[in-house]
Amino acid sequence: MRQKQSPLFTKDEITRISAPLDKAYTLPAAAYTSEEIYRAEQKKIFKKSWLPIGRIEQLPEAGSFIAADLLDQPIIAVRDTEQEIRVLSNVCLHRAARLVEGEGKQLKFTCPYHAWSYDTKGQLIAAPMMETAKNFDIRDCKLPEIRSEIWEGFIMATLDPNAKPFASQVKGLTEQFTQYQIAEHVIQRTLEFDSNWNWKVLVENFMEAYHHIGTHSTTLQPGFPSRQSRVPDNDGPWSILEMPTGESAEDAADHGSLKPTPGIKEEDLGTLWANVAFPCLTFAVQSDMLIWFQIIPRTVDNFLLKVHLCIHKQNLDLPDLQRQLDASAEIVSFIHTEDIAANDIVWRGLNAPLTTQGRLSTYEKSIWQMNQWWLSKMELA
Ligand code: FES
Ligand SMILES: [Fe+2]
Repeated sequence: MRQKQSPLFTKDEITRISAPLDKAYTLPAAAYTSEEIYRAEQKKIFKKSWLPIGRIEQLPEAGSFIAADLLDQPIIAVRDTEQEIRVLSNVCLHRAARLVEGEGKQLKFTCPYHAWSYDTKGQLIAAPMMETAKNFDIRDCKLPEIRSEIWEGFIMATLDPNAKPFASQVKGLTEQFTQYQIAEHVIQRTLEFDSNWNWKVLVENFMEAYHHIGTHSTTLQPGFPSRQSRVPDNDGPWSILEMPTGESAEDAADHGSLKPTPGIKEEDLGTLWANVAFPCLTFAVQSDMLIWFQIIPRTVDNFLLKVHLCIHKQNLDLPDLQRQLDASAEIVSFIHTEDIAANDIVWRGLNAPLTTQGRLSTYEKSIWQMNQWWLSKMELA
């Protein structure tokens, strides 16, 4: 039988990626910089995976909506009049105009082009001046619906009608974080960063604590030392990085005025977790905060990053909440500035002609886990 050959990676390169963790190498630089690979990722990964498009608290009432793009498909995530969250095509059934931009609340979506109107379930409810058209009945016209699923408050959507349900793929991840009540968290602040690297540069940076000794030597390293980080085995398309605190239990339990989520085990009170459901549901959890890194890839070398700071609903009434959130936003922003500097130098290196695959540390097990998944999704394994 003929071996399927990849024109982009040599057999040796693939062997290095798929080697056991203690012998493994990174992906080749082209995996990050090549337009061709990016296009293949769109087809084989992004169009076939579940992608996060919002959180349920962003759609609090009937008619609340977010307009976005799921790859090349404009979408509207909307809460309908029966309180169901739906993800609809945001393309008019008449001559394909985009129906709505941004976010807000409305019970009717009227196309700006010729004023056809749709309800919150995507049903066409008015099509002005169409009474002379033969065999046309607005009741036959409904915006296509995109598969969606709510997981722990995240609105997940996929363009693949055959994708396995998301929750069934991330059972291990779900179980690990039950005590954190992720679904009970609500977005309070959002920071935005235009990011000029391939999306995987950020995901990898997010998934390992090895770089605390370099990039965050004075910020994260004292509290979350690289050497204490652990990555459990996974049994699905996800990865967990556990960062136990290096501080005393007393310091670890001191979270300003934010109360830790009730029921969290004593030993986890100070632990920071960084998790990814591949390819890009990327979130950090602590006993008093959920931080969602929403990655919206735009080109091979650019994505929009929205960092959402979310707190448990029990903390919404704290008298000094705004001050607390200001302080948290400042810390998160400062740490991310350190990561931006790291990602910038990596990105320059990935684009250099002499760059070769590097050896992974065993402390980068989550990158290794994602690489194995990436190879198989890209049909290179
Ligand atoms: S394109 Fe929407 S009404 Fe014509
Ligand atoms: Fe970092």
